[in-house]
Amino acid sequence: MIKSKAKIAILATGGTIAGVAGSQISSVGYTAGVVGVKELIEAVPEIENLAQIQTKQVANIDSSNMNDEIWLKLIQEINSCFKQGIDGVVITHGTDTMEETAYFLNLTLKHHKPVVLVGAMRPSSARSADGPKNLYNAISLATDKNAQGKGVMVVMNDKILSARAIVKTHTLNVDAFSSLNFGDLGYIVDGKCFFYNEILKLHTKQTPFDGEKIKTLPKVDILYTYSNDGSGIAAKALFDNGAQGLVIAGSGAGNIHENQKKVLKELLKQGLKIVLSTRVAQGQVMLSEEDIKLGFISALDLNPQKARILLILALTQTKDIHTIREFFQKY
Ligand code: SIN
Repeated sequence: MIKSKAKIAILATGGTIAGVAGSQISSVGYTAGVVGVKELIEAVPEIENLAQIQTKQVANIDSSNMNDEIWLKLIQEINSCFKQGIDGVVITHGTDTMEETAYFLNLTLKHHKPVVLVGAMRPSSARSADGPKNLYNAISLATDKNAQGKGVMVVMNDKILSARAIVKTHTLNVDAFSSLNFGDLGYIVDGKCFFYNEILKLHTKQTPFDGEKIKTLPKVDILYTYSNDGSGIAAKALFDNGAQGLVIAGSGAGNIHENQKKVLKELLKQGLKIVLSTRVAQGQVMLSEEDIKLGFISALDLNPQKARILLILALTQTKDIHTIREFFQKY
């Protein structure tokens, strides 16, 4: 019996994978989000052997400009694909904020079927563009039966990375992503997927956040701490501007300069929810008993940009600090 090919949808959002530079030698100074999804797949005719492909251009942006509207639109598009019987979804995306979109979807989608984000570090016009092979690998992963139920994944440079663990760790190299604190989920060799790790944090159907039902997202911002920190003034301005939550990229295991902390203590009393993450790449935040009593919430091992996403989603459900702390333990 002839086995029918998997049905895969490619949702394109832009990024360097769809970028074009002035010369084939340039891998910097290009414009991201130029080439359309049809051209992207024409560059990889071998995709035809893997799956029946349908495509949609959801956006065509540099992912540093990612926003809530596109995130919510992606949820609608992905849900509509699965309702139509699609077997897996591949999202082409800029690498700058890829870890944020991946984690947002990881917490808000309700499917076991594979959702895979893919990008490139070199524009599509570059001599050794990495996009085409990354795209081939991403489609292979989306058709792989073993990819079911693993949460949202990212494929870059032959690595399979989970949305929970992935962090961008290089600004230019094609090997730009790592799974800090966890390890990669697996590896892809010419389209063959090998899994060798699992992430125990909960995702997709295991979370209480249903993206389909979310209409708007609360404002949550991020501030750094640093020597001679003068950002207390910014914290107050963000709160006055409607921020319901703030994530602090603390120093070390979650410390904040006393200048900023003085202001934050006042804002906690006024109802601002403050999650303490760290500027350090690996390890986790350990709050003092005093900071816990003051109302600070530990991001544990989540970096500031991902802690922001979990706090946003938490605030769509609750203002209760104990429940928010539980979410940080679980997801
Ligand atoms: C972007 O994130 O859209 C530009 C950078 C990249 O994709 O590598």
